[in-house]
Amino acid sequence: MDRSTRPAAPPADDTGDVLVDWFATAARDLPWRRPGVDPWAVLVSEVMLQQTPVARVEPVWREWTARWPTPAALAATSPAEVIRAWGKLGYPRRALRLREAAIALTERHGGVVPADVAALEALPGIGTYTARAVVCFGHGRPQPVVDTNVRRVVARLVHGRAEAAPARASDLADVAALAPPDPARAVRFSVAAMELGALVCVARTPRCGACPVRDRCAWRLAGCPASDGPPRRVQRFPGTDRQVRGRLLDVLRDAEGPVSATRLDDAWDDAVQRARCLDSLLVDGLVEQTPDGRFRLPA
Ligand code: ADE
Repeated sequence: MDRSTRPAAPPADDTGDVLVDWFATAARDLPWRRPGVDPWAVLVSEVMLQQTPVARVEPVWREWTARWPTPAALAATSPAEVIRAWGKLGYPRRALRLREAAIALTERHGGVVPADVAALEALPGIGTYTARAVVCFGHGRPQPVVDTNVRRVVARLVHGRAEAAPARASDLADVAALAPPDPARAVRFSVAAMELGALVCVARTPRCGACPVRDRCAWRLAGCPASDGPPRRVQRFPGTDRQVRGRLLDVLRDAEGPVSATRLDDAWDDAVQRARCLDSLLVDGLVEQTPDGRFRLPA
């Protein structure tokens, strides 16, 4: 083939770099992203952020990292104290798991958060996402970090689909393929992709006009096809067991000592649901019963 007939080389894909540059101008100033935040504080933030919005996490994260600045400090704290300090972040089993992770870090890793994905994944409550986020954002070592927002960005940008498919093994490779080669930029790329999904490439009404990579987005180039998946479920909260468990925990959190079953009756009218939820809190280790039949946070 002579020069004139050889197909042009595809332009170098600078998508990762474009996202890093966009992040420098558009990112939220979140406290766990500031320079000098150590891997333990990052780990705490990532566990809190998994199911709770940033605004609610911020004050609790500040309190936790000031009070328990190391895994050893948290490991020495009672379950009751960590459940209390978890406040109303929701999904309070995460508080117990964090304490268990702190104990494991203290016993197995000398109180140091490892920079190794497999070692982190072996800790209680730490999955693929959190382990990679800690290595990447806490230790500054590039890793593909894939949460729901990132899966949606990749679904649209790379695969031309309206919505993220359920998590699958190839997600990590899809994201790694977009990362810039420079390690420091690859770290920022991982948080930039999350931020794009959180602020611009949002689920319901994506703000494509503000998107730095709209010119190469496969979904837009395909004419923004509608989702072919089942309709998105709207998460309701009122009346759920999750709400009732929260109400019961509120009573125990605010009490000075153990409380009687009668005092818990005021937390929720439906006795069947109330009993089911109290039972599930006991099973989860979030509540314990005293020998005289009263209830309290686990000592
Ligand atoms: N920055 C780093 N990790 C984050 C997360 N999980 N949510 C929001 N911002 C983050």
